[in-house]
Amino acid sequence: MEILSVSDSDLNRAAAALAGGLLVAFPTETVYGLGADAFNPGALARVFEAKKRPRFDPLIVHIADMDFLAKIADLTTLNADTRQRLTVLTERFWPGPLTLVLPKQKEVPGLATAGLATVAVRSPSHPVAQKIIRLSTGAVAAPSANSFGSLSPTRAVHVKASLGEKVDYIVDGGKTELGLESTVLDLTACPNGQAVILRLGATSMEAIEELIGPVVLSVVSDKPISPGQLKSHYAPRVPLILYKHGELASIPDARAEGKEVSEGRLYFSFNPETAPDASTRADRIRVLSKSGDLSEAAANFFDMLHELDALGLDLIRAEEAPAYGLGAAINDRLYRAASNVKEYMEIKT
Ligand code: TXA
Ligand code: MG
Repeated sequence: MEILSVSDSDLNRAAAALAGGLLVAFPTETVYGLGADAFNPGALARVFEAKKRPRFDPLIVHIADMDFLAKIADLTTLNADTRQRLTVLTERFWPGPLTLVLPKQKEVPGLATAGLATVAVRSPSHPVAQKIIRLSTGAVAAPSANSFGSLSPTRAVHVKASLGEKVDYIVDGGKTELGLESTVLDLTACPNGQAVILRLGATSMEAIEELIGPVVLSVVSDKPISPGQLKSHYAPRVPLILYKHGELASIPDARAEGKEVSEGRLYFSFNPETAPDASTRADRIRVLSKSGDLSEAAANFFDMLHELDALGLDLIRAEEAPAYGLGAAINDRLYRAASNVKEYMEIKT
């Protein structure tokens, strides 16, 4: 594995590697993606292997030019209503953090879509991602560049730690700007004519509804349609206990209660300087946004969980974000991250 910079010559190398069937991790505006040529089944198979990702979990195909959309998705089968929604959504949100599920073109390998008749497509806004896609084959399949089920990568070092030698190149573009994955919106299911959100993400549900009217939210399920709906996902190695918004500040530290447990805390919004016992645990406290700004909180979310996860703690206590806008997407990930806590309770209590 080799780390590349974002210089023109390095991006040319990254693109050539992709076109040649190698795996290249690169930054997008949401999280780092593990890229492979979307039309190369051998490269796609390596993506599943590297991530230890189940073959039933389809990938997102990334494009940089609108011309490529029709090569990936079969737009001829869409009814006028869906076509209209596709137009307004792409005009408003592309390039950007919105993934659309559409009928698949038959040329797209079944491995990319896990055998489904649909394909997920998005056009990332990150200039490095756009350059790499354009300079390679124009269509790059890329899941988040982490092992399946673990925290998503917001920096090149996270990719290196999670995938190491399983990836051929990592393009280091610094910390990703938005920090949460794209929102996945299914335009094919449309019960009662409505689109379905399969994963909350960096484009808020409110912003989508403002544009196309009410959508159905279908993000947690025992039998997931979209594996982003799995109950345990986005999990740190350390057990995570979740509290209601605003409740964490009144929970005493485990040590203060006489327990031999070192805990870390992830606050949504909190001022550690004014907390009575802040000095004893300040290094183990992270605050997503002191001012309560949802975009700032989203950008810090995985990054701060990575930091806490690296501290060798026994436990992370986290609090919910407010349940609207990007806060709903943060909470969605917190619920899944907290699903590893049962294990902890059995061991420790
Ligand atoms: O922001 C993002 O979306 C990042 C960056 C790299 O673009 N990518 C990402 O990929 O998060 P991944 O593989 O971690 O998540 C893709 C999600 C999964 O929940 C998957 O199940 C869903 O999209 N998905 C993909 N194709 C689908 C399809 N045909 N139908 C339903 N869900 C699909
Ligand atoms: Mg992922």
